[in-house]
Amino acid sequence: MIVLGIESSCDETAAAVVEDGTRIRSDVVSSQISVHRPYGGVVPELASRKHVEAILPVISQALEDAEVTGNQLDAIAVTRGPGLIGALLVGLSAAKAMAYALGKPLIPVNHLEAHMQAAFMGSSPLKKPFVCLVVSGGHTALYLADPMAGNRLLGSTRDDAAGEAFDKAAKLLNLGYPGGVVIDRLASEGNPRAFQFPKAFMEKESLEFSFSGIKTAVANFVRRLGPPAPEGEKGAYRLEDLAASFQEAIVDVLVTKTLRAVEFSGVRDVAVVGGVAANGRLRLRMREEAACRRVALHLPPHRYCTDNAVMVAAAGYHAWMRTGSCENLLELDAVSRWL
Ligand code: KG4
Ligand code: ZN
Repeated sequence: MIVLGIESSCDETAAAVVEDGTRIRSDVVSSQISVHRPYGGVVPELASRKHVEAILPVISQALEDAEVTGNQLDAIAVTRGPGLIGALLVGLSAAKAMAYALGKPLIPVNHLEAHMQAAFMGSSPLKKPFVCLVVSGGHTALYLADPMAGNRLLGSTRDDAAGEAFDKAAKLLNLGYPGGVVIDRLASEGNPRAFQFPKAFMEKESLEFSFSGIKTAVANFVRRLGPPAPEGEKGAYRLEDLAASFQEAIVDVLVTKTLRAVEFSGVRDVAVVGGVAANGRLRLRMREEAACRRVALHLPPHRYCTDNAVMVAAAGYHAWMRTGSCENLLELDAVSRWL
């Protein structure tokens, strides 16, 4: 079954053709990072406009790379939500129009379930159910995941997502966007134990998260100590140490809670997916802890951590296999929240 996947929930316009949920025939991502960088975060109105410009060329490129025509597709899968409503509508409208014109089924896909599909793109086979940490710019949640039987939410963030904390801290420090990538790079040169940052809900049984306090702690830190020392000079502190300590607090919380969910649920397979799953320190700490506990860890390749349409096409294929039906094309609307 050949599925075209379309993704436009945030700041990436993406299209991909995937066969039988696993064989990637094409994978096109047009990133808007440079558009949003001056603002230190995604500007929803700009995102919608850029999606409008990119969506048709990106879809054409995906079909061309896969060497298929629209008529050869078996279905079109599209991210319906959660995400920025104006951004989602661009991908959804394009998908609806194509499905209608070509007479193909339209498969609405939940963006979080799509991220979870990336767990299957690692090198080792994944046993279901598994614990899945979905950690991105918009979401931080733990699931007991089984794409066929359904996913059970174990805990999620009460406020900011972990990626949002990275982005907001980077904005405070004038480091640019997306913050996670810059902080990850700086942190690799810093001391993770130089400073203590708050870790929320660490009590023994909690699987909930909160990352708004750590962002405030960074703001207070800079207010108290001033800007970091310029490179090679002496000052109150090094930016690298601040980045490493901040990152360590977030990674500590993510690793502790994910392993707690593994312990509570009794499963032996765990995956970390979403943009923050690209974080070097998180990957290292999860590898170490999983090895100690003899738990099988599944980390998607970097490209499939951040938003892409391969995961959407794969999730669409599995949804189709599960239900074999699709909703009324003309009734289907985008949804900004969808757990
Ligand atoms: O999954 P994604 O592309 O979009 C959402 O669905 O939100 O995730 C983007 C988020 C951003 O907040 C970005 O700062 C974060 O993922 N991110 C990282 C890294 N690469 C991307 N966070 C920490 N370390 C990274 N290496
Ligand atoms: Zn995402």
